[in-house]
Amino acid sequence: MKHEILERNSILLLVGILVVVAIGGAVEIAPLFWVNGTVEKVQGMRPYTPLELKGRDIYVREGCYVCHSQMVRSLRDEVERYGHYSLAAESMYDHPFQWGSERTGPDLARVGGKYSDEWQRAHLADPRSVVPESVMPPYKFLEQTPLDYRDIKDEMKANRAVGVPYSDDDIVNAPSDLEAQADPNGDGLDALEKRYPKVQARDFDGNPKQITESDALIAYLQMLGTLVDFKTYHPDARENRR
Ligand code: HEC
Repeated sequence: MKHEILERNSILLLVGILVVVAIGGAVEIAPLFWVNGTVEKVQGMRPYTPLELKGRDIYVREGCYVCHSQMVRSLRDEVERYGHYSLAAESMYDHPFQWGSERTGPDLARVGGKYSDEWQRAHLADPRSVVPESVMPPYKFLEQTPLDYRDIKDEMKANRAVGVPYSDDDIVNAPSDLEAQADPNGDGLDALEKRYPKVQARDFDGNPKQITESDALIAYLQMLGTLVDFKTYHPDARENRR
């Protein structure tokens, strides 16, 4: 048998192993060099506002991804239930991405605007008050916990280091942008809207006295899936790309 030659000669076997491992390695690693080319830019996608970014942190911290995916697959039943299938560009500013791997609850990639802030508040505080058969745990403490955003500038810098295009201006103004989004009666709304098109600014948690973790999380949820306008999006049309 031919492989006896390899089995009886350990140096030859070693070389053989190296060749096979190198092929496997190249197949896995090489595509990563061109990953930027595969993520098409799509009109409407923008980095998260500081408040949305903080909301996303809470989403990750509380492990919402354990029960919720954020990826609508291109299968008919998914598209009929959740809307347009997810685009790679919709996760391009996510570090790490929130695709998830299990759906104990529904996919959340397009949940923005599906419910009112009031519904989201009631649901987070006590899911069974609005969906009696729900198995989702309550997160009432979020509306009672003031949002800690002292590190927001550093967090945006960290995101910039991995490719999110925040400008110096975005970073310097992060705290005032965050406050303007949660309290649209204050100053700074115009500047916020200029920096982050399609931003939704309002008192998300219904408590104008303080900015809570609930403000941030609901701002994040209400943004999900709302940035790309799928009424005008065509996968092949050049004008969709920036
Ligand atoms: C133990 C699993 C579990 C965890 C953890 C969980 N959820 Fe849920 N979630 C569910 C289930 C089940 C439903 C469907 C029933 C309902 O609406 O409550 C749901 C529904 C939802 C909905 C409504 C979706 C829709 O389209 O109707 C939202 C929004 C939501 N969850 C947000 C969150 C957020 C935010 C977190 C983290 C703070 C979270 N969930 C954590 C299980 C979970």
